This record gives sequence, C-alpha cells and structure tokens, in this order.
Amino acid sequence: MKKGGKTRLERFIARVVGQRTCIDAAAQRTGALAGNVWEVGLGNGRTYDHLRDRFADRNVIVFDRQVMAHPDCIPPADMVRLGDFRDTIPAELARSAGEVAVIHADIGNGSVTESRALGRWLTPLFVHALAPGGCLVGDQPMEDPALEPIPLADIGATDMPADTYFLYRKRA
Ligand SMILES: C[S@@+](CC[C@H](N)C(=O)[O-])C[C@H]1O[C@@H](n2cnc3c(N)ncnc32)[C@H](O)[C@@H]1O
Repeated sequence: MKKGGKTRLERFIARVVGQRTCIDAAAQRTGALAGNVWEVGLGNGRTYDHLRDRFADRNVIVFDRQVMAHPDCIPPADMVRLGDFRDTIPAELARSAGEVAVIHADIGNGSVTESRALGRWLTPLFVHALAPGGCLVGDQPMEDPALEPIPLADIGATDMPADTYFLYRKRA
C-alpha cells in the first residue's frame, strides 16, 4: 500500500539511502575529532559494515544482545559488548564518558512504543558518552538540550520518510 506516495519498496530504498547519507554526514562532521564509534544494534551487520568502512581508522564498538550478523560482518570479539543495552551501555560509558565521536543507534524492534521508550532511556547516556561536537545518528528521536538537531534536508536526505531517522550534533 502506498504511503506518502511511495510503495513499500520505495520507502525501504529511501530509508536505507537516507541511513547511508546520515552516517556519511556524521563522518564528514567528525573528521577532526578523536574517539571511538559506537554501533548500537548490530542486527544483520549492514550498517556496521558501512561504519567500519567510513571510520576505518577508529574502533567501532558494537552493542547487541546477540551476534546474528551476516558472516562477512562479524565484529572482532574484543569490540563486541553482548547483552541488553540497559546493562552494556552504562558499563561502556563508565570507560569512555565524553570521548565517543559518533554513535549510530538503530534499535527499533517493530513496536513504536517500546522503541521510543528505549530511545528516551538511552538518550542521556549517549549525551554523556559523546565528545563535544560528536554526532548521534539513529532511528528514534533523541531530544536533549545538549543535542542540536540537524535537519535531514541540510544533508540532502530529502527522500527519507518522515520521523524514521534522526541526526544530532552534541553542542560544544
Ligand atoms: C534494527 S536491528 C539493527 C539493524 C542493523 N543496523 C543493520 O543494519 O543490520 C536492531 C538490533 O538491536 C538489538 N536490540 C534491540 N533492543 C535491544 C536491547 N534492549 N538490548 C540489546 N540489543 C537490542 C536487536 O537484537 C537487533 O539486532
């Protein structure tokens, strides 16, 4: 069924193109920053594969409750934090507060209510983890006074279905 004038296939294509545009925009904006990258939600490993290409000179630390990615996209064991985000993110934050350059959080589980609640719970932890000027990219709105929203139109992701992806920069 068409929504917003697009078929499901067209909405899927627009979403993945927009995901890539957001990650690339975060890479462009953080080139001068030191720090690791966090991939919160490994899933099939598609965005992990893109992150490790775009951030080839950084550690990409990966969070998920399981490793079920494509065999070509399995992260090194010492870069994986296995378990529920509610345990693993606070534990990693204790080691790297204020030092993370980019967080990509693709955490949706199909339930809008649950995913939005998880996004709200994680937002202050992400703010604490990011370096000033660091970027947060994700599939949930993550609103905080310390985060400046970057409109997707500003990075050319004009085709992205509304309210499906979000980009923020931590204020310096
Ligand atoms: C939408 S998928 C990520 C897709 C991935 N970005 C990709 O390109 O393949 C979301 C992932 O988040 C994980 N996840 C969701 N909620 C979680 C939680 N509370 N703790 C740990 N992992 C969670 C799921 O296991 C799933 O692998």
